[in-house]
Amino acid sequence: MSGLQQMDNRVSRASNLLLRSVVLGAGSCLPKRIVSNADLEKTLDTTDAWIIQRTGIKQRHVAAEDEPTSRLGLLAAEAALGEAGLKPQDLDLVLVATSTPDYTFPATATQIQAMLGMTNGAAFDLQAVCSGFIFALAAADKFLTSGSHKRALVVGAETFSRLLDWTDRRTCVLFGDGAGALVLEAREGAGTSSDRGVLTTQLRSDGRHRDKLYVDGGPSMTQTTGHLRMAGREVFRHAVGMVTDVVSQAFAATGTCAGDLDWFVPHQANRRIIDASAEKLGIAPNKVVVTIDLHGNTSAASIPLALAVARGDGRIKRGDLVMIEAMGGGFTWASALIRW
Ligand code: ACO
Repeated sequence: MSGLQQMDNRVSRASNLLLRSVVLGAGSCLPKRIVSNADLEKTLDTTDAWIIQRTGIKQRHVAAEDEPTSRLGLLAAEAALGEAGLKPQDLDLVLVATSTPDYTFPATATQIQAMLGMTNGAAFDLQAVCSGFIFALAAADKFLTSGSHKRALVVGAETFSRLLDWTDRRTCVLFGDGAGALVLEAREGAGTSSDRGVLTTQLRSDGRHRDKLYVDGGPSMTQTTGHLRMAGREVFRHAVGMVTDVVSQAFAATGTCAGDLDWFVPHQANRRIIDASAEKLGIAPNKVVVTIDLHGNTSAASIPLALAVARGDGRIKRGDLVMIEAMGGGFTWASALIRW
């Protein structure tokens, strides 16, 4: 962008208050293959009853060899563009949140950009594990509201099945594969919580918690992909406090409260974490979007997948106030308040 254009954007912002990142479309993609708890009972010392009681998960989707992260992300992106009524060339920013990229490099975002037929704009990946989608949404929001970019595709896409130790019942029953995407456009707003768009993002991280949730491989350490390792109880112990903190910060930043929400769309890690967080925040159960029973934990994909489900079945409508939150490896944790 030229210096003159940048100056024009600043002038426009000064005279028309501010820019907001408005959601124009949502889309999702799930691999065809479904693995039920009953399927897992055949190869693991586990039961459908244990998994449902501890996590709420009944089944998860698992990607085939010809369904890499980029393919799931592409199909979610196309669906989001369809709802937005836009062509790939209308975008100028592609951000992909993933911890399971197709390759160490190039970025999965550039693969999706190419598959969309885009040669314009910028594309890059961002990694904050299960909080990755909100970190990517926050990054896109900063680009759009600075005036430097006009329309962003934000994708959360994962093939966590590739990272799992399928003999470890403490972890492999929890995760699934999938992708979700949002298309956002910079539009002028009045600067109040009545504006459509992303109203606030709250991001946190604390690397001291690495050993509680990590992958024991990587190009620099082991030259292998590695497997997911988790101290489940430890993660559980921190989760509710962390996510309710960032949600409370989002309320404080926007002058809103739990009673104002139309929908609460949490990261889908564990039904007990979701229920306890909603209860602590005073959010009614009928406002909570839950997909963990059918999807399992799809890490960075779980929130955009749940958003696309609730948008697709008519729950989320234009103008609705939607709170999203997540916590994941790092630890990272984050929230965002969006008026749809
Ligand atoms: N089937 C049957 N038994 C199992 C299974 C299983 N799949 N997994 C563990 N167990 C056993 C354990 O071996 C243990 O047995 P033992 O007492 O004989 O040693 C017993 O169940 C209890 O194990 P815990 O780990 O203490 O079980 P807990 O009640 O904590 O539930 C769970 C485990 C579901 C993982 C829970 O701790 C949890 O949900 N933690 C949060 C995990 C999470 O949300 N991670 C993702 C967040 S970040 C992200 O999304 C990447």
